[in-house]
Amino acid sequence: MHKATKATLTIGDTTIELPVLTGTEGERTIDISALRKQTGMTTFDPGYVNTAACQSAITFLDGEKGILRHRGYPIEQLVKECEFVEVAYLLVHGALPDKRQREDFSSKLNRHSMLHEDMRFFFRNYPERAHPMAILSSMAISLSTFCPEVEEMDVDAQVDEAMTTLLSQLRTIAAFSYRKFEGKPFVYPDHKLRYCENLLKMMFDSPVEPYELDPVLVRAMNALLIIHADHEQNCSTSAVRLVGSSGANLFASIAAGICALWGPKHGGANQAVIEMLEGIRRDGLKVSDVVTRAKAKDNPFRLMGFGHRVYKTYDPRARIAKKLCDQVLERLGIKDPLLDIALELEQAALADDYFVERKLYPNVDFYTGIVFRAMGIPTDMFTVMFAIGRLPGWIAHWIEWMNDPYQRIGRPRQLYVGPVTQDVVPLAKR
Ligand code: CMC
Repeated sequence: MHKATKATLTIGDTTIELPVLTGTEGERTIDISALRKQTGMTTFDPGYVNTAACQSAITFLDGEKGILRHRGYPIEQLVKECEFVEVAYLLVHGALPDKRQREDFSSKLNRHSMLHEDMRFFFRNYPERAHPMAILSSMAISLSTFCPEVEEMDVDAQVDEAMTTLLSQLRTIAAFSYRKFEGKPFVYPDHKLRYCENLLKMMFDSPVEPYELDPVLVRAMNALLIIHADHEQNCSTSAVRLVGSSGANLFASIAAGICALWGPKHGGANQAVIEMLEGIRRDGLKVSDVVTRAKAKDNPFRLMGFGHRVYKTYDPRARIAKKLCDQVLERLGIKDPLLDIALELEQAALADDYFVERKLYPNVDFYTGIVFRAMGIPTDMFTVMFAIGRLPGWIAHWIEWMNDPYQRIGRPRQLYVGPVTQDVVPLAKR
């Protein structure tokens, strides 16, 4: 980041100069950190649409061109060349692991993958059909009670211990919450298996019907987790940074991120897409009517899996997910009518002026649900899969933020529009 030019701001008789910062990809931002001190004014930016809340070296995305790169590597190459664990390592450590680092990281993850036996009992007390996202978030914070020493550690040591625990045990928890949801016995991680193999095995193995790992599905799971691994300052990552800025530990910050991800405008959209497609099929709706409904101003319905705060073109992750749909469905010999509806919906929306003018394209969630569904993962688990994928991104951002010289507690301002001062009338007279 360098400060070359300046912006001039004139308010009445006062003129001030504000530094303009330039990032490594040429993006420019006006540094307003001294604005209030100099003018007494704040800026108004609901939803932080124009606000760069931090500097970051993890992920670059260009929403106009549909570019997504982690630490400089294009998402398409990472999906093609790497396993999820390598991308997790890249996000957190800043460089791809070599062979030895890869094996060390894997064995560390394996060693940490067993849950404390007492944690297993927590699962018993959730009601039947408890939403797995509720279980995941409460288990993330519960994990911290089994690692109290983390509070005492410095950031680097905390990171190593907490990061490895979170990456390997949240995967175990995700699989266990699925088993709980299905009313099936838990399957423990197997140290001979790799990260995604273990995830699939823990979800689908059965004493009466052993689960055979299929390399195409293992590859697809790796790709699915990789396309979710990070997306710079999205809602859940910002939640992780905000909670972390108060000095809360990594577990607490991640639990907040999981809760933020749950909403249907964010990670919950993958579940909402499938529910929308199922509704269209069940009720025999015409795709054109659904598109019309999504455009109506007096109807809160939106085309789920469409639109993005940053992408104003096709989301590169959606392109990858669409390809995965074809590969996985073909491998499993499945013909999913929801895919046909999704393709028809995409075609109709992309030809419609409303969507064209607003630059609304399919996002990552539009096709991933169809792949998860084909792999046998129930709808309620989709956002959990997103969370497992996003975990290294959250961790990387938390670490980066803790080490950022600009880091301060997150505390936005507001524009007060409530009543002006008034006197309290005693209760008897009100
Ligand atoms: N269907 C119909 N209209 C839409 C949609 C949609 N999916 N998305 C945006 N619009 C319209 C919106 O009504 C507004 O119209 P107007 O200018 O006439 O008021 C315009 O497009 C701009 O939308 P916005 O709500 O101001 O945009 P935003 O940046 O605040 O919201 C979004 C982004 C992703 C929340 C939104 O596009 C949306 O709700 N999409 C559906 C949910 C979804 O798929 N979410 C997943 C996002 S990608 C993965 C992730 O982040 O986790």
